[in-house]
Amino acid sequence: MDNFFSIRTVTWEGRTVRMIDQTALPARLTYVRYTRPEQVADAIRTMVVRGAPAIGVAAAMGLALAAVRSTATRLPNLMQEMETSAALLRNTRPTAVNLFWGIDRVMRKAASAPTVREAKEAIFTEVKAMEEEDIEVNRRLGKQGADLIGNGDTVLTQCNAGALATVGYGTALGVVRAAVEQGKLVKVLVPETRPALQGARLTAFELVRDGIACTLISDTAVGHTMSQGRVDSVIVGADRITKDGYVFNKIGTYQMAVLAQRHGVPFFPAAPRSTFDLDRTHDMVTIEERGANELVEIRGKRIAPRGIPVSNPAFDMTPPELVTAIITDVGVVKPPFGDNIARLIA
Ligand code: MRU
Repeated sequence: MDNFFSIRTVTWEGRTVRMIDQTALPARLTYVRYTRPEQVADAIRTMVVRGAPAIGVAAAMGLALAAVRSTATRLPNLMQEMETSAALLRNTRPTAVNLFWGIDRVMRKAASAPTVREAKEAIFTEVKAMEEEDIEVNRRLGKQGADLIGNGDTVLTQCNAGALATVGYGTALGVVRAAVEQGKLVKVLVPETRPALQGARLTAFELVRDGIACTLISDTAVGHTMSQGRVDSVIVGADRITKDGYVFNKIGTYQMAVLAQRHGVPFFPAAPRSTFDLDRTHDMVTIEERGANELVEIRGKRIAPRGIPVSNPAFDMTPPELVTAIITDVGVVKPPFGDNIARLIA
């Protein structure tokens, strides 16, 4: 089965960026095409594209658009224009480290070229390589994690850590896909993931499209479902894993990890190396606070009284003591995470 979710979430095509408009899913599978870095920054902010690896690649391609549009004839001028666009893209979402990884990678490439023409060529080659690499890396990650899933297992996930959160294949759902490719029967429990509903809209869309068994549950049913013995493992993605082993992921992940420990269910974050932040400890990470509209409205319809104060953190932090092991593209990291992350990921 090699054709799992074979469409590309983000692609560099004819010196433009083409991406799936994830805000229209699952009703419509439509694409948007961008020619300016500001458009890509807006798409990241408004979650036309979302998911840590996908926004890393999208931001890199947004920067490549700055190179396409530049009329600079001297390298320092090109670099200055690129830095302006990089600043704009860095300001879109603070939590997923892949965003900064993607931007830094393109800036480094540009800075090492001797001429404007060579810098531009190097940037275009680099973003296409990042696109292809993302799929390869996730396939490797999937294989590393597939052995942790038994035949007949039910896996609980959170949000969307699938093909739509990456260029293709997915991280947490990549592990599920790899297990299914090995011939295992796997069922996925998909919490709706309020407030942006990435579970109900996106994970459900991917899994149904691929014919992988899945059941949608409400976020509030997670504890009950585990207490009934209906979950064999929890496999989630990550937006940033700090050098001290803390896992930042979609809001709701932390309570899932606490419940998993309570019920003796293994808890596995799955993430490529670009999601590890070896420069920071957990206390240095900003958790994105999103707009009140995501909570007081459902699809434009007001559901809470006017004037109600709102707190809407988009991510939470799971401490290493609740993590069984971390699945990566270069192996499965076991505790103690501080030492083992440094050894495997550096
Ligand atoms: O707010 P989102 O939809 O960008 O959040 C996405 C997640 O939290 C994913 O679980 C995470 O990025 C891992 S994606 C492979």
